[in-house]
Amino acid sequence: MTTLDGRAGHDGDNPLDRIERYYDSVPRVGGARAEDFGPLTLFVQEDPQGWAYYARPVLGGGGPVTEADVRTVLARQRELGVPAAFEWVAETTPGLRAAVEAAGIPVHAHPLMVLDPAAEPLPPHPEVRLFGADDPLLRAAVTVPMLAFGAPGTALGEAGPAELAQQLADPACEARRAYVAQKLAAGTTALAAAVRDGVVLCSGQYNPAGEVAEVVGVGTLPAARRQGLALGVTAALVAAARAAGAGTVFLSAGDEDVARIYERAGFRRTGTALIAELEA
Ligand SMILES: CC(C)(COP(=O)(O)OP(=O)(O)OC[C@H]1O[C@@H](n2cnc3c(N)ncnc32)[C@H](O)[C@@H]1OP(=O)(O)O)[C@@H](O)C(=O)NCCC(=O)NCCS
Repeated sequence: MTTLDGRAGHDGDNPLDRIERYYDSVPRVGGARAEDFGPLTLFVQEDPQGWAYYARPVLGGGGPVTEADVRTVLARQRELGVPAAFEWVAETTPGLRAAVEAAGIPVHAHPLMVLDPAAEPLPPHPEVRLFGADDPLLRAAVTVPMLAFGAPGTALGEAGPAELAQQLADPACEARRAYVAQKLAAGTTALAAAVRDGVVLCSGQYNPAGEVAEVVGVGTLPAARRQGLALGVTAALVAAARAAGAGTVFLSAGDEDVARIYERAGFRRTGTALIAELEA
């Protein structure tokens, strides 16, 4: 058994503390129930269309996390048939990585970036706009990231408008549209997209909770990459989040290449988001 150090509390007012509170609150308002396992909390999604959440350190610090703690949660995830996933911030819970790895779960590190409040806003991109719940292109806007994340990295690729049109026939896209439309109407998400000639080429969202907002799911169709569309969408999301009162805007970048794009939008590397998941 691996026994590791405890963790700091999260009642302070630095960005990592605010992010920790955000990570703990978003699943609770996003349709998940929380199950407590000592120093870990397992969030279990109860909305079939909702985001499948993860286990993470209990808010406020629950003492050292051991390999046995991780294995207990893993067994519960298996029992429930939910993803065997753990997400946390390396700097906030330094001991958890070794416990998760000792339990045989591979860990991936992603730059955790926080918007510099002093960053100069970028000019609006002429092809980018915010979407409302009734936008006729909303189904395309929620489908673009599905194709984008299917072609990871920042390189140009094959899939473009034709592949998007084909993908849109999948009933999963309509279910996703309805779910995001309901969140847009409720104000629990905002979506921006780049549209050219009536075709969505890039989209992304931010999810607010209190004064914190996380930018998520920014993706550009592989054939439309390297034209500044992701930067334009990110800038629009940042402007909207700030206008809505977000004091802390953050994201975790896929890798260092993606982090470079977000740096141009004013984000600065503040920590490391760790994501561990076993294949189903
Ligand atoms: C990451 C991703 C969203 C970037 O989308 P994009 O629209 O190509 O992004 P941008 O065009 O704004 O920037 C990409 C690059 O093109 C460059 N670029 C922008 N406009 C350009 C132009 N007119 N001519 C040439 N290059 C240009 C940027 O400088 C940037 O270069 P860099 O890689 O050297 O930093 C896209 O590659 C993607 O969907 N990847 C898969 C999903 C993913 O990883 N999403 C991020 C999750 S955090």
